[in-house]
Amino acid sequence: MQILAVPNLPGHPHIAYCDASLQIEHVSATALAQEFGTPTYVYSRAAIEDAARQFLDAAAAGAAHASVDLRYAVKANSSLAILQILARLGWGFDIVSGGELLRVLAAGGDAAKVVFSGVGKTAADMRLALDSGIDCFNVESSNELMLLDTVAAQAGKTARVALRINPDVDAGTHPYISTGLRSNKFGIAQDQAVSLVGQIAQLRHLRLVGIASHIGSQITSTAPYLDALDRILDLIGDIERKGAHLEHIDLGGGLGIRYTDQTPPTPREWLEPQLARIAARGYGHRKVVIEPGRSVVGNAGVLLTRTLFVKTTPAKHFAIVDAAMNDLIRPALYAAEQEIVPAESRPGNALRYDIVGPVCESADFLGRDRALVLQEGDVLAVLSSGAYGMVMASNYNTRCRPAEVLVDGKDVTLIRPRETPDQLYASERLLA
Ligand code: LLP
Repeated sequence: MQILAVPNLPGHPHIAYCDASLQIEHVSATALAQEFGTPTYVYSRAAIEDAARQFLDAAAAGAAHASVDLRYAVKANSSLAILQILARLGWGFDIVSGGELLRVLAAGGDAAKVVFSGVGKTAADMRLALDSGIDCFNVESSNELMLLDTVAAQAGKTARVALRINPDVDAGTHPYISTGLRSNKFGIAQDQAVSLVGQIAQLRHLRLVGIASHIGSQITSTAPYLDALDRILDLIGDIERKGAHLEHIDLGGGLGIRYTDQTPPTPREWLEPQLARIAARGYGHRKVVIEPGRSVVGNAGVLLTRTLFVKTTPAKHFAIVDAAMNDLIRPALYAAEQEIVPAESRPGNALRYDIVGPVCESADFLGRDRALVLQEGDVLAVLSSGAYGMVMASNYNTRCRPAEVLVDGKDVTLIRPRETPDQLYASERLLA
């Protein structure tokens, strides 16, 4: 296959070729790899801010239907500098652990704009969240309600809670990132929710303020959201007929991004029909909460990696690169496809390569069967790596996690240095 033109990168604002060199805003990927080494995650500040503003604009446009609170899902990318950018734009945060709460606070986030999700909160994490003054706990079971009531009593506080409902809809995404089916561990079945409302009324340190749902991740159409919403609105009707009043409806996150050829709705196209449905069914005076993660940061980041060896076996061509499944696990875990492009594009005769890392596992691949013109030493960029990249990195094979760099126009900031091997075992103990 002949490669003649430089790749066009739709869906990756602020990441583009200038002549034949890949640029993140005004900085070349080759220069970044040179300065910071590889593997390195690189993020575009403008791309994060653009995505965040699209949600702010969507919320403003929908204000006639209902007012919207934005809560960035910290799990997608929890680096302090990124949380700081979003906090400065006025975003709140969706957390799933005490650790994520501490990160939000360290980055200057406002605890009063934090919602605490997750199916397995510990008493210690609940206490930290109560003492910090978070807005709301999205509770997923009767036993969690009882524990939260006990912890709130000890803290001398009243916990604001929303019930996370499992609406039993198929979000049409990878089974590992689908959460809204009856068979998933998440949420409370609709028929159990009304009795839990009764339970909350008996618990003196809890106050029911909302209903929440999150049906999965990397969802590329609005239909499953509207299905889920209809069920949630039915349930709100049932709950309120029993005398409770709910302040807010949390629609969760999950809006997909373009990895290869997907065409997800824009934030506005995603939010508008949901807000319109809420208003049309007479619930427009409720506050609406959304928890997007991937769609805020996913296409703002790339993972830079250098080709160590090109290896041809009787079966295949392999490009063995210095990033591996420990740095970016999505391809191995979900068979996720992310574009892989050269830092310097050259015309020539492309071969089909499996792009693999140095880890001793056959699942250690970043991409398969990719047509590339490649030489040893070449830098490659794995696109769409801003979400669920660094946060899922591990030290498997005693590999140091990558550096992270933020580009802002021509400015470059090292927001997290690469780990060093001695850091990896500094806290370990030898036997006596
Ligand atoms: N809210 C809740 C309650 C969630 O569980 C999640 C993600 C989000 C919001 C944010 O979803 P997003 O907008 O980022 O899709 N590691 C997987 C994705 C796991 C998502 C888990 N929950 C991946 O790399 O595809």
